[in-house]
Amino acid sequence: MTDNTGPIGVFDSGVGGLSVLRALGDLMPAENMIYFGDQAHVPYGARPLEQIQRFSEAITCLLLENGSRLIVVACNTASAAALTYLRGKFPVIPFVGMEPAVKPAAETTKTGRVGVLATPATFQGALYASVVERFANGVELLQHTCPGLVSQIEKGELDSEETRAILEEALLPMLEKNIDTVVLGCTHYPFVIPLIQEIVGEAVRVIDPAPAVARQVRRVLEEMGSVNPSNSKGQTEFITSGKVERFDRILEQLLSVKVHARKAEWIGDQQVVVT
Ligand code: DGL
Repeated sequence: MTDNTGPIGVFDSGVGGLSVLRALGDLMPAENMIYFGDQAHVPYGARPLEQIQRFSEAITCLLLENGSRLIVVACNTASAAALTYLRGKFPVIPFVGMEPAVKPAAETTKTGRVGVLATPATFQGALYASVVERFANGVELLQHTCPGLVSQIEKGELDSEETRAILEEALLPMLEKNIDTVVLGCTHYPFVIPLIQEIVGEAVRVIDPAPAVARQVRRVLEEMGSVNPSNSKGQTEFITSGKVERFDRILEQLLSVKVHARKAEWIGDQQVVVT
């Protein structure tokens, strides 16, 4: 572990975790961050859990080698598959992961019906089962995996006809069943909130968990006595295992950030290095 100025390490299968990175930057602008998008392997959603664990472990090693003092698993799928595993492998490193925001949805729904959008791996994992058991509290959860949506967002197609068709297929049957809340259980999905809101209407609440996760990261840093005391804006470094130019373009589209990402290469699926 390093000093209070070491970066917060953030990773996702691709660009989805940028929705969490954005919330972290809004809440804690002084923190330095390092973001890893595993675009060589995106999407994670239909992969075996053991493979996602191997990827997550290798990425964690890389983020730690680059000085990270806390790791945010900014991917519901990787959190479902690997968060417990990572905590076991790296017992002294603080991890913050994602879980579908069933709790706030169940607390506020009036119709008692909530839509949840997430990947197959997230729905299959023990984490989701535990969230439902602890927090659903009699509320009916209507689930959909939105096949193809992660890839559309990776391509930057935030409001194309195809993206709309995927979302309508998921959401229109839910609307017929009178949902009043939609939980975004995949970190890619906040980038299509405008389209989702257009389909479901303004009366339906769409929950992006990123701000709550950012607050959790701040709580953990406070407990560690490790909040960056600087008054100046932190630096963020970006790494992709995919194509750098493509990542740079989508980063500009999604976050209005103009930077040149570093390139990482996988050696098998146990090790990843920056080239
Ligand atoms: N952003 C990931 C998640 O939150 C993406 C899923 C994927 O790669 O399939 O689940």
